Amino acid sequence: MKAYGISPVVILVPGDFNDHAVSRIDKAFKLVRIERADPGLVSEEMRAAVRGIASYAGINAAMIDALPNLEIIASFGVGYDSVDANHAAKVGVMVTNTPDVLTEEVADTAIGLLINTVRELYAAEKWLRDGNWAKTGNYPLSRLTLRGRSVGIFGMGRIGRAVARRLEAFGLPIAYHNRRRVEGVPYEYRATLKGLAEAVDTLICIAPGGASTEKAINAEVLSALGSNGVFVNVGRGSTVDEAALAAALKSGAIAAAGLDVFADEPKVPQALLDAPNTSLLPHVGSASVHTRCAMADLCVDNLVGWFTERRPLTPVPETISVPRGV
Ligand code: NAP
Ligand code: 8YV
Repeated sequence: MKAYGISPVVILVPGDFNDHAVSRIDKAFKLVRIERADPGLVSEEMRAAVRGIASYAGINAAMIDALPNLEIIASFGVGYDSVDANHAAKVGVMVTNTPDVLTEEVADTAIGLLINTVRELYAAEKWLRDGNWAKTGNYPLSRLTLRGRSVGIFGMGRIGRAVARRLEAFGLPIAYHNRRRVEGVPYEYRATLKGLAEAVDTLICIAPGGASTEKAINAEVLSALGSNGVFVNVGRGSTVDEAALAAALKSGAIAAAGLDVFADEPKVPQALLDAPNTSLLPHVGSASVHTRCAMADLCVDNLVGWFTERRPLTPVPETISVPRGV
């Protein structure tokens, strides 16, 4: 017996997906899987039957158009730059994401990455594990410190604010850049990203991907950050001109970078791998069992809310006005 009485509803899951979400979808709906989000893999039967998608993967306009009875895309993650939400809205398809439930986890990761970048904890541990402490002596003093730094946050949204709250406890001054000033936060607002980079020596990006932020972190912004500058990215790789970043790290235009996200994941540019002053993570901002489980629940609850009451819990702004009538 399937829960919710919605088991005939067919949900398509393209590619790899969270186990807990898969198990819930399989219990509540009819689950169909394909290798990747590719219209070429959609059979005639799927074309007629699929009413919902649950996905980590990007869903483009062609994929949406390949499924004429599609009603909802439940995207797994808060960032949904890889889903064509404007096209979905145009053809009356709801898009949901998973905000809030990952905010504190991603903020923790951002702080961990910042400290690792500045204080070289990974390299110091490797020194110990490689036997160098006993053989050679103490690990060299870290060139950089958090002490005396001032931090700029690019993207003072839900996660940006959680990062800022943590940094307040570190005693560091905080400024930020968004397109709009945020009411009720005690941090200095800078109207441009370059202006923010000029005002601080540590820049943390937690802005969304997409056209409006594409390669916003460029050579000019990095040069404004300066030679003592530290850049940390937990937002999206597309927001960075990676060639300019690699050049800035090599020339000393900035001091170091900590990156959890890359423009063409899982590929990481060789120049960033080779740079001695980078700390690199494989997009693990939200990647704990606890938080991924909460994201999975919200992703599936959006499907359940839609197919029981036409009420998605967390629709993205682009599709907020998609008609909800049966
Ligand atoms: P959010 O609450 O929507 O915050 C996004 C912030 O970015 C907003 O304050 C927004 O302000 C600002 N922003 C958006 N476009 C901008 C632009 N063109 N120029 C300047 N500022 C801009 O989202 P969130 O929940 O904090 O998540 C933020 C992003 O983090 C996600 O979209 C995702 O890409 C990334 N993320 C990464 C991981 C990871 O594992 N590394 C995990 C979760 C999230 P304005 O609209 O006023 O500009
Ligand atoms: C996830 C993320 O790794 O929520 C986001 O925007 O980048 C991460 O939490 C990703 O969405 C899982 O596909």
